[in-house]
Amino acid sequence: MDRLLIRGGRRIEGSVQIRGAKNAALPQIAAALLGSGRLELTNVPEVTDVDTMLALMQEFGVVATRGTGRTLVLDASGARSAQAPYDMVRRMRAGILVLAPLLARFGSARVSMPGGCAIGARPIDLHLKALDALGAEVNIESGYINARVKEGGLRGGRVVLSSPSIGATETALMAATLARGETEILNAARDPEVSDLVLTLAAMGARIAGEGTHRILVQGVEALHNARHDLITDRIEAGTYAIAAAITGGHLEILGAHLEHLGSVGAILESAGVQIWPSDRGLMVVRSGPLQGIDITTEPYPGFPTDLQAQFMALMTIALGASVVRETIYESRFMHVPELNRLGANIALQGSTALVRGVEKLHGAEVMATDLRASVSLVLAALVAEGETTVHRIYHLDRGYEALDRKLVQCGADIQRVAG
Ligand code: EPU
Repeated sequence: MDRLLIRGGRRIEGSVQIRGAKNAALPQIAAALLGSGRLELTNVPEVTDVDTMLALMQEFGVVATRGTGRTLVLDASGARSAQAPYDMVRRMRAGILVLAPLLARFGSARVSMPGGCAIGARPIDLHLKALDALGAEVNIESGYINARVKEGGLRGGRVVLSSPSIGATETALMAATLARGETEILNAARDPEVSDLVLTLAAMGARIAGEGTHRILVQGVEALHNARHDLITDRIEAGTYAIAAAITGGHLEILGAHLEHLGSVGAILESAGVQIWPSDRGLMVVRSGPLQGIDITTEPYPGFPTDLQAQFMALMTIALGASVVRETIYESRFMHVPELNRLGANIALQGSTALVRGVEKLHGAEVMATDLRASVSLVLAALVAEGETTVHRIYHLDRGYEALDRKLVQCGADIQRVAG
């Protein structure tokens, strides 16, 4: 297993290019199953979660061809019904996103239950309720979800989400696209990645309105056609580099990033003493003064994203004063806390709240990555820790960050990837 050796103390400076969002790519790859032709996606990040999703699509006979410049062509003309096996959905929960397109296209689907993961239990009840509201019959047997359409196929309906789940909104959207009649999705997720999925579905011929709001309306169509779409850039990758610049007292231009996609993150970084503003090509981030402790609470978009919670906590470890970090999206997304403490941070956990008391310095140590965002928070902390830090199990990083170590090195970091 590869590991990273990081010698802290260098400023992150210059510019870095952000790629397409992993969390936009995964549902859109699944959406290719809804069409019977080609879907061409550009700006697809080279991360291993995308590879896992493509391997899953291969099970259904979708031919994926990667071209130059992060282009991906998905040909679903020879798609066939098959089951989504445990081994793949276990490795990547987003595998559940094939359920709705399979059901819409073939009238039945069999997808492994994803199970829990390092960041929480992560149930799928809202996905199943959405399909039920559109007329599917769903049962769970031996760890598999078996879904089938009732006579006459999927029909439009009213999907009311008890919380604005991103995945369940995407499931409802994909199922409704080919259902008969109108579907109303209430309390829909407003995240930019959901709106980006709508753009792709619309390019394929779907009729959808209201994306970016809590009420989305879908008029079902009979069939979808070939389409091309350029993926939205990754706001979490952008936020991660913004924090890399901030934690090292650096100065970075984040190419391709959009401040408006970051929701409340920009204002929170400003309150912590980081300057952040839009540039012609993306975002500028500078920190020249001291960091100030700031309280945050993770919330659905446009609130502070849970996917930047660990990185923000790393930043707060060296801020003046104390800060409180409340996690409300997942019940146990704090695997990074003991590891940050190994680097000399002072973080106390109580339930879903972390109290971070800023320290003057972090110190290099051996630490273990446990999930994607926890891993990157350790890399960020290591950038300012005195001495050398070894981050083990970095395959988690490669799931969602394209060439993180190489990009940071180009911005001045001292990082070495060691194989085996
Ligand atoms: N939830 C339910 N029932 C459901 C679905 C969700 O209770 O049927 C709960 C979840 O357990 C969680 C909350 O609702 O507590 C939010 O879950 P959501 O469905 O919004 O998350 P997701 O679609 O499974 C996406 C991202 C995650 C990100 C979350 C929250 C993708 C592929 N994944 O997951 O990304 O943390 O939204 O913003 O879009 C990551 O990139 O590191 C990552 C984990």
